[in-house]
Amino acid sequence: MKILILGSGGREYSIARAIKNEQEEHELFFQPGNGATNNLGTNLNIKDYDELAQFAIDNKIELTIVGPEAPLVDGVVDIFKEKGLTIFGPSKEAAQLEGSKVYMKNFLAKYNIPTARYIETASIEDAFKFTMTLTAPIVVKADGLCGGKGVIIAQNHDEAKIAISEMLSGKSFGDAGLKVIVEEFLDGYELSMFAVCDGDDYILLPAAQDHKRLLNNDEGPNTGGMGAYAPTPLVDEELYQKVRDRVIAPTLDGMKKENAPFEGVLFIGIMVVNGEPITLEFNVRFGDPECEILMPLMTSSVSDMFLKASTNRLSEIKVEFSKQFAVGVVMASGNYPYSSSTPAEIILDDVKHAEIEENTHISFAGVSMQDGVLYADGGRVLVCVGVGDTIKEARNRAYLRCGQVHFVGKKIRTDIAYQAL
Ligand code: AMP
Ligand code: GLY
Repeated sequence: MKILILGSGGREYSIARAIKNEQEEHELFFQPGNGATNNLGTNLNIKDYDELAQFAIDNKIELTIVGPEAPLVDGVVDIFKEKGLTIFGPSKEAAQLEGSKVYMKNFLAKYNIPTARYIETASIEDAFKFTMTLTAPIVVKADGLCGGKGVIIAQNHDEAKIAISEMLSGKSFGDAGLKVIVEEFLDGYELSMFAVCDGDDYILLPAAQDHKRLLNNDEGPNTGGMGAYAPTPLVDEELYQKVRDRVIAPTLDGMKKENAPFEGVLFIGIMVVNGEPITLEFNVRFGDPECEILMPLMTSSVSDMFLKASTNRLSEIKVEFSKQFAVGVVMASGNYPYSSSTPAEIILDDVKHAEIEENTHISFAGVSMQDGVLYADGGRVLVCVGVGDTIKEARNRAYLRCGQVHFVGKKIRTDIAYQAL
């Protein structure tokens, strides 16, 4: 197939890599891609979605896969579908499950999907009043997309009030903060669950855990994610079934009732509290770096899964996963997540050991290529992925691979998957 992938991160690289590893040959295009995706296909520079759709028509692209949330919330799927193109991802309407936290929370409440007790409001008085019904810590969230920074965990009521005032005044997040959610803090362990959906049916992928904080022991500032592993032993069959029955099934039914059937990846951020899965949030795309560790675990065709999901035919296929584990360790640049860093040359040692060669790989993210030299020029630069028969083996391999990657300022966490070991 000729396949177009939207996005530029490690997530998109890992999808492309999995598709390239299939037996059938595929030709890949990226908008915009990164300095390493042009080894897997052709990078484009077409920012306008109508022009991009025209490119897809002219070049007989058979499937488009959207990686990040921004184009989904902007409605790229609607634009492509109007022109008769096949594209994997939710409509603009359905993407509100991520684009607006108010929409998401009200949806959860309407369809009785367990979530943290909350208020949704644009009124500073109502928000303050609600905080008084909660015990600290208190969670304050901006309504709109804030690049992963829109959630404040306030340690006391005063901090919560400051966060609310700064959001509602537009000071902290502009228009994205003009409505807020204030909610109770849930104490438990966090999971990332992914359901690939076609509007009616879905495939639930192995549960993963991300590591959002910059430093070991979950300390330091929040990031996009510093590493992930799957499947996590923290989820047993009973918990999977609860997520199916209490979250995914009512969400797909509910979205049909809202006239916005959900196609694409439903990413469920879950907090498990006393054995019960409580929905923290939805995203409408794969997690990054979760995608980088789920793709290598898929043994059936990745491109076919996306194609069938985009054409309401998921019920026709069986998606299969290996019995192994995958661990991904993010390598970030020196100033991440505070500010950008000076581009640094990346040196990759040759992998001489067959075991490491066969069971590890790199998913490239914030990299550029100049005169044949690869530079680290983004926040999260790449992900070293290890696969193994146990989490420990997968993790050891991932860290061995990390040792073979060098650039000035490189930063990693050394405790990825600690909750499973
Ligand atoms: P979100 O952008 O909604 O995923 O929130 C970012 C992170 O904040 C989540 O991954 C959780 O770690 C944390 N978080 C969000 N809501 C809550 C909550 N109600 N209780 C505890 N932690 C939360
Ligand atoms: N790794 C979490 C996210 O992609 O939002």
